[in-house]
Amino acid sequence: MRIDIMTLFPDAMSPLLTESIIGRALSRGIIEINFHQIRDYTKNKQKQVDDYPYGGGLGMIMNADPLYNCWKAVKNDVPDARTIYLTPQGAVFNQAKARELADKYKALILVCGHYEGVDERFIEECVDEEISIGDFVLTGGEIPALAVADAVFRLIPGVLSDEICFNEESHYDGLLEYPQYTRPAVWREKAVPEILLSGHHANIKKWRRREAIRRTLIKRPDMLKTVNLSPEDKLILSELEEEQNNQ
Ligand SMILES: C[S@@+](CC[C@H](N)C(=O)[O-])C[C@H]1O[C@@H](n2cnc3c(N)ncnc32)[C@H](O)[C@@H]1O
Repeated sequence: MRIDIMTLFPDAMSPLLTESIIGRALSRGIIEINFHQIRDYTKNKQKQVDDYPYGGGLGMIMNADPLYNCWKAVKNDVPDARTIYLTPQGAVFNQAKARELADKYKALILVCGHYEGVDERFIEECVDEEISIGDFVLTGGEIPALAVADAVFRLIPGVLSDEICFNEESHYDGLLEYPQYTRPAVWREKAVPEILLSGHHANIKKWRRREAIRRTLIKRPDMLKTVNLSPEDKLILSELEEEQNNQ
């Protein structure tokens, strides 16, 4: 997977994606990331990339031309790349979308807006899809682009040490992950659930499934409306609901 990010702040972004797990995958060549300074594609002396909105109003709008020139240069290099504009007006990002992007595309171009956004004509001309990271407004698309790139990259085979890292975690199968513990076994008088010290893998697996369902019921009951549960899971859920009603 190759991701190209178009931004006015490449230097601020790159350290966050070149460290730790993603950094190691980059140096092993499993994934590739490139940052493009949109300002380098202006043709005016002042390297201005924004202007006042037609029709009046507050704030500045990013000009279509530098965005287009930057996009065109990247697209010439990776013609099949899917272009995504990060915007609070897009479909809200989730794990299923991360999975779709990781599976369907070999290259993504992530466009970060700034100020009051970008000229609509650039979106019409070049953007395949709009993604939001939530119903709130940030000052720029840099944090959303980092979130999308990180979520997609970690699904690429070989980036994480073992696929189990993500096939049991929150949102993978529509549930939240079970609680996790590490050493010491007792911390501030709180002991780790005994079953996790038993070494009995089948029982641990069952306990984890039950706790994943419990967590989802408590923290995100909305997720249970769409999740695919097995008959055993449904039984666990009804027991947990009864437990909850009796409390
Ligand atoms: C201040 S916002 C512009 C908001 C725009 N005027 C509107 O009302 O839709 C500036 C830039 O931040 C990015 N941005 C802000 N919030 C975002 C979000 N929730 N998800 C994705 N991108 C966001 C977009 O790239 C946007 O162009």
